Amino acid sequence: MRFGVLTGGGDCPGLNAVIRAVVRRSATERGHAIVGYRHGWRGVMAGESVPLDLAAVRGLLPRGGTILGTSRTNPYKDVDGPERVATTLARDGIDVLIAIGGEDTLGVARRLADAGIGVVGVPKTIDNDLDGTDFTFGFHTAVQVATDAIDRLHTTAESHDRVMVVEVMGRHAGWIATYAGLAGGADVILVPEEPFSIADVCARIEARHRRGAEFSIVVAAEGAVPVAGTMAVQEAATDEFGHVRLGGIGSRIAEEIEHRTGFESRVTVLGHVLRGGTPTAFDRVIATRFGIEAADAAHEADLGVMVALRGTDVVRVPLGEAVAALKTVDERLAAAARVLTS
Ligand code: F6P
Repeated sequence: MRFGVLTGGGDCPGLNAVIRAVVRRSATERGHAIVGYRHGWRGVMAGESVPLDLAAVRGLLPRGGTILGTSRTNPYKDVDGPERVATTLARDGIDVLIAIGGEDTLGVARRLADAGIGVVGVPKTIDNDLDGTDFTFGFHTAVQVATDAIDRLHTTAESHDRVMVVEVMGRHAGWIATYAGLAGGADVILVPEEPFSIADVCARIEARHRRGAEFSIVVAAEGAVPVAGTMAVQEAATDEFGHVRLGGIGSRIAEEIEHRTGFESRVTVLGHVLRGGTPTAFDRVIATRFGIEAADAAHEADLGVMVALRGTDVVRVPLGEAVAALKTVDERLAAAARVLTS
């Protein structure tokens, strides 16, 4: 058989570990041929591919980024995009395409699967907002990087008696902010799921300082939004999937806190640092298990599915289940965060 592999959307630690596992399982063990498409759906539309064999994936396990490159190209934005995808796959004799990506990449995979193309999905995103799986790979690494940064910001915050605002990624869901905020002992955590009142944030910081604290740490997801009409925010551009390019809420929050409370405030935007570099051991393991399961699904021609982590098991779920709705921070986790930040 011949399998194609692509990585789409934002890059993410563990992408190379998935590619390596797919090749090891499919090519080395079973003798299938693997073709890697460059830069996500863009490479499939353009017919830009590279052969993937054992030599190509040697040493990949700890390597960040993706050797295939990635893009946020949406074939459904082109009149003949889906047709070009089908033409390339037919020309290359691909039986199954393994698409590694988040809601956008897998949303395209789902539409192609509905149109009869053989696709298997692998859930990737540092945001952890894909439904159908308990965790996406990359999330754990992003949380670890953010937690290390918050630990470091604690010592400089306490030395200067400052409020430090840490902006982390997470445009629609506050998983990174909540996990890293809990792990790093943040005093305030702001997430997209719950619009915040800047007056309330300031009141909480002032109350904490009245209790004797001389510094505070605020962790804000980039997608955190103030209650409508309570604080000015900047407008931003959108990408091919209609997502706003975020960034900037952290500095607005820091300005407002300093202005309203008189406490000296600073902002640190962690941004793409969260996505760079080597995956944690946990992400290496789930990325590897996802790659093996995706290779098995392709081998068995079990199509239109996404591999997923449920508890400690790697299973397969319909692609439609994964992309139907975004997975936002659940109430029990949010409640735990409230206990530690009130
Ligand atoms: O891939 C998810 C993500 O990291 C989001 O958290 C973030 O909003 C977005 O990608 C940033 O996208 P880009 O890399 O295109 O700036």
